Amino acid sequence: MAIAINGGKKLSGIVKISGAKNAALPELAAVILSSDGFEFEGVPEVEDIKVMFKALENIGAEGEFVSNRIKVKIPSLKSGLVPRDIVETSRASILILGPLIARNGYAKVSLPGGCPIGDRKIDFHLQGLRKMGATINIKNGYIIANSDKLCGIEYTFPNKSVTGTENLLMAATLAEGESVLTNCALEPEISDLINLLSSMGADIKQEENGLLIIKGKTTLKGSKHKVIPDRIEMGTYVIAGSFFDNEIIVENAIPEYIKSLLNVLKNMGVKIVIDKNRIKVNPAEDILPVDVETKPYPGFPTDLQAQLTTLLTQAKGVSRIQENIFNKRFKHINELNKLGANIEIKGNTAIIKGKTELRGKVIKSTDLRASASLLLGGLIAKGETIVENPYQLFRGYENMPEKLNQLGADIKLIKR
Ligand code: EPU
Repeated sequence: MAIAINGGKKLSGIVKISGAKNAALPELAAVILSSDGFEFEGVPEVEDIKVMFKALENIGAEGEFVSNRIKVKIPSLKSGLVPRDIVETSRASILILGPLIARNGYAKVSLPGGCPIGDRKIDFHLQGLRKMGATINIKNGYIIANSDKLCGIEYTFPNKSVTGTENLLMAATLAEGESVLTNCALEPEISDLINLLSSMGADIKQEENGLLIIKGKTTLKGSKHKVIPDRIEMGTYVIAGSFFDNEIIVENAIPEYIKSLLNVLKNMGVKIVIDKNRIKVNPAEDILPVDVETKPYPGFPTDLQAQLTTLLTQAKGVSRIQENIFNKRFKHINELNKLGANIEIKGNTAIIKGKTELRGKVIKSTDLRASASLLLGGLIAKGETIVENPYQLFRGYENMPEKLNQLGADIKLIKR
């Protein structure tokens, strides 16, 4: 299968943002911490979530995933195994590790797969869990962890890690005693996870600057939870609204979550009007070039780097994007250059010379966010663009071709 985009169409209208994949993933892993039932609302129907749901079923979860709702319960654990064939396309498995050792005392979890965007180490996860008292060995692509009882720890993350923070946080909710985690990541998905865990009875204090203090409990209860909107999807559609004479209103948005992007776009001349949970975007007459660097939240997100690069091909002048989070997150550049972009990579910086006229070609998506940037490239390009390997897109964007078609795009799924 591939995605065929007949480019050059004006986009206008309202697009509604789905729930956040990267909030729903750890929240589904948190289900392991209790034997009670859970109900989640606003869960995006994307492949990475389906993978996580399957991995939970494999260890004993009962439930259903219908119409963006998940009802799930793990009354007793059937197995401590998270097999490679279920989780190889996603990083979901690593989020299961902490909660599974905490509840079960044993976990055999496949080393995480996911986007090939550079070294994606898990040493902080393992350091923290070992400090809590788990014995961990890595054998034949599996993390094998045992523990009689996890204990509270003091741990300072050497660098900010989103899933690292989530993993240790979840494990600490069932560990004996107090945990003090410093230099934790500050992404909104972590705050949403904290809200869920607190509603389950966990005792968590979130202080300023990434300090988390967790008092472990012996049991946690079930909960009902609505997942926050996806800030990366939000940002992607705001970027889509920033070229041609598009007129997009992004609905179910939390503008605060993408402040860094909105500031960059304002500097590019894009007109942004915020009305509560709506962001109205009107493109600049001439898009101005900018220099941007990716940083942990609240800085400019690495997950929007590729999409902004596509837009910058339309800016008059030279822009630079420095990628500071992942060391191989430039796979979209070659594909955008096939469409006619003029982008050079120097070290960890992409240098984008614009404005370039893009023309449809056959290109291939390599990772989730890169595929969104290629779709945006196809919307800008004249003629037909074919994006191969659309699975990458469907891992994390709910109904993106359908949502864009509703705004006036001409996108089809084709057999290839
Ligand atoms: N790092 C380490 N050791 C660790 C953990 C991380 O050195 O133990 C390094 C990584 O190699 C990387 C940096 O720290 O250089 C940040 O990695 P982080 O752990 O924060 O990334 P992640 O938790 O694996 C999550 C998102 C990613 C997103 C990043 C950064 C989920 C499931 N994934 O990944 O989302 O890019 O945070 O914000 O939450 C995506 O949705 O497309 C995606 C890739």
